[in-house]
Amino acid sequence: MNTDATPHDISRWHPVAPSADLRPGANIVAGFAEGQELALWRSAGGAAQAWENRCPHRSVRFTLGQVIEDRLACAYHGWQYAAGNGQCVSIPAHPAMQAPRNVCAKVFGAVDAAGMLWVNLAQDAAAAPPSLADAVPAGWHFCRTLTLRAGAHEVRDALARHGFVAGVAQGAWQGALDAVKTIALILDAQPQLTFVHLWTEASPDSDAMKTLHSAARNLRSAIETQG
Ligand code: FES
Repeated sequence: MNTDATPHDISRWHPVAPSADLRPGANIVAGFAEGQELALWRSAGGAAQAWENRCPHRSVRFTLGQVIEDRLACAYHGWQYAAGNGQCVSIPAHPAMQAPRNVCAKVFGAVDAAGMLWVNLAQDAAAAPPSLADAVPAGWHFCRTLTLRAGAHEVRDALARHGFVAGVAQGAWQGALDAVKTIALILDAQPQLTFVHLWTEASPDSDAMKTLHSAARNLRSAIETQG
C-alpha cells in the first residue's frame, strides 16, 4: 500500500474494472485493490458502488448476493443495503423491525472516468481528480484485462522495458505492443497479483486488435517467466 499518498493523490484511485462490465441495477462484479476484496455494482440509476465484499451481518461475500434496484441483498439471510451509504434498510425475517442504524456495509469511493471504474480505499477520499478522465483518449477501445501473477512494481518495470511511459493518470502507461498503440492501466490487486487493463486506438474487429491480443499474451508470458 502506498502510505505516502494523501487522500487527494491520484495514486489512490485504482482502475478496478471496465465501466461497461457493470450494468445498472443488475450484476455484481468481484474486484481487488491493494489486497482489499471488493463487490462492485451499480444502482438502478447507474451510480457506481464499490463495497468491501463482506456482509456486516455474518461476513458472507456480497458478490454471492443480488442487486434489487438501489439495494444490494445478501445471499444468506437476505438483509438489504442501500446504494450510496451502505446502510442496512431491510431485514426480511423481521419486516416490521427498523434495521439498526449501525449496521452498514463498508463503502469506498467509486467513480466512472475514461471508460473505467476507479476506486479509492481511503476513508476520507476526496473527489476524484479530473485528470482521470484523460487516462484513455476519447474514441479508444477496450481490448482485454491481463491477469498477472506478479507484483505491480514488476509489471511497471516490464512495461518500461517495452518502451511504455507513465501517462497523465497514475497507473496509466502509454506505449505500443507489436506496433499497436496501447494504454495499459495497472491495478495493484494483491502483493503478487496485478491486473492490466489494455486500451487501444485499434477498432474492435481490426487485425490490429487481434495483433494486440496476441502481443498481450506474449507480454504476460514474459513477465510471469521473469518473475
Ligand atoms: S450474512 Fe448477510 S444477511 Fe446474514
